[in-house]
Amino acid sequence: MDKFKKIISHSKEYGFIFPSSEIYDGLSAVYDYGQNGVELKNNIKYYWWKAMTQINENIVGIDSAIFMHPTIWKASGHVGAFNDPLIDNKDSKKRYRADVLIEEYLEKIGKKIDKEINKAKKRYGDNFDKAEFLKTNKRILGHQRKIDELNERFVKAFEIGDLKEFETKLGSVSEDANKIYLRPETAQGIFVNYLNVQKTGRMKLPFGISQIGKAFRNEIVARQFIFRMREFEQMEMQFFVKPGTEIEWFKKWKEKRMKWHKILSFGEEKYRFHDHEKLAHYANAATDIEFEFPFGFREVEGIHSRTDFDLSSHQKFSGKKISYFDNELQKSYIPYVVETSIGLDRMFLLVLSAAYTEEEIKKENGKLDKRVVLKIPFFLSPIKLAIFPLIKKDGMPEKAKKIFNDLKFDFNCQYDEKDSIGKRYRRQDAIGTPFCITIDHETLKSETVTIRYRDSMKQERIEIKNLFDILYKKLSINSLLKNL
Ligand code: GAP
Repeated sequence: MDKFKKIISHSKEYGFIFPSSEIYDGLSAVYDYGQNGVELKNNIKYYWWKAMTQINENIVGIDSAIFMHPTIWKASGHVGAFNDPLIDNKDSKKRYRADVLIEEYLEKIGKKIDKEINKAKKRYGDNFDKAEFLKTNKRILGHQRKIDELNERFVKAFEIGDLKEFETKLGSVSEDANKIYLRPETAQGIFVNYLNVQKTGRMKLPFGISQIGKAFRNEIVARQFIFRMREFEQMEMQFFVKPGTEIEWFKKWKEKRMKWHKILSFGEEKYRFHDHEKLAHYANAATDIEFEFPFGFREVEGIHSRTDFDLSSHQKFSGKKISYFDNELQKSYIPYVVETSIGLDRMFLLVLSAAYTEEEIKKENGKLDKRVVLKIPFFLSPIKLAIFPLIKKDGMPEKAKKIFNDLKFDFNCQYDEKDSIGKRYRRQDAIGTPFCITIDHETLKSETVTIRYRDSMKQERIEIKNLFDILYKKLSINSLLKNL
């Protein structure tokens, strides 16, 4: 099985990510985060928020509503992009959405393939080799070719924006001006609050506004797990600067954001910039930070110099003056904007992809064993400390629970008394828990426990009274933040 598939099934098996509405056969390109997923996701948010907002004197955060005045999307230029490609059937005079038609067609072919497989299964019984059948059966290969060709044409057509390829027209699905849209980016919530924040926070240029929130896109090709979703989260920061200084700030943010990624120690070679040659009409510089996912280098974050396009446009559409009075220059102007925009879910996938490790280990009896371990940076791990009584008697569970109750206010801890210690270690490795401590006979005599480290699997005996300090030091992100 390839690594990406393994990550997808591991995510489900260990409570990180579930397909949405699974008991109803799922909802395409929508996912739910499970008990471990939500912790990891919150920790990533915390790392971003701390780094981007709280340790920067001149950056503040907001949390704007998802629903916004519909004219905002005209001002932002998204109304064009919202237009779903439509196909008119000239005979029936009915209109269809191209992406829906294509998805339905692909599904139909998929069903034909399933039918062939079921027929062959019945025919060959136990001798049926599905992989071989898929590779060699002429009818299946024909169906697959159709799927591949269609996918390729559609993606290409979308990338270059040439919808003639499918004889489509651009038009709004709803002509109703009062339609409330689900926002496709969080950035507009920041732009329309620029004046509020600048005035109430008495912010002086250059300054930034950051936000973490949901965004929605009607993705056409959405078959890459949480890489491309219909409902996802963005972590965006708009940095408002004096016109003419934007390229300097763009370069600064490019470096700063790359540092934020690389400091996680997943390997410098796994990151690269992809500078845009073809720029959007409102941008005068743009780059992507790309990461090497199991399926290749792909964008995880965008950094864009958006000029004064958004604020000017909102000024025009709203009729409200949006400008900044520069005390030094004694004049007003519309600030320029440099934006950093990262997908939280995509960052989550990055962490999982980089952390997922299969290792062969030697057991005490000399036999080889395999372990799957998520080498997540400690501070991002869903559970920080697992606490095990060696056996379920002799006062060990009580002692273990006491330690759990003492530490749970500071660290996300998990108590586990089921199965052998070996199995308990494996379970924690699989979710990336950096430390496991075991309460044994010696604990009851000398107030000590063994601590076992996830990556080295080494164990050492430490005094219970030192546990808090040891954990605190190893889990704190202060030194990391100081190096940003
Ligand atoms: N405000 C700028 C903006 O939205 P973008 O390049 O369209 O720019 C920024 O999106 C980031 O949001 C991307 O780098 C990616 O990480 C994430 N993103 C975009 N579409 C996504 C989707 N369908 N699913 C998951 N993440 C997505």
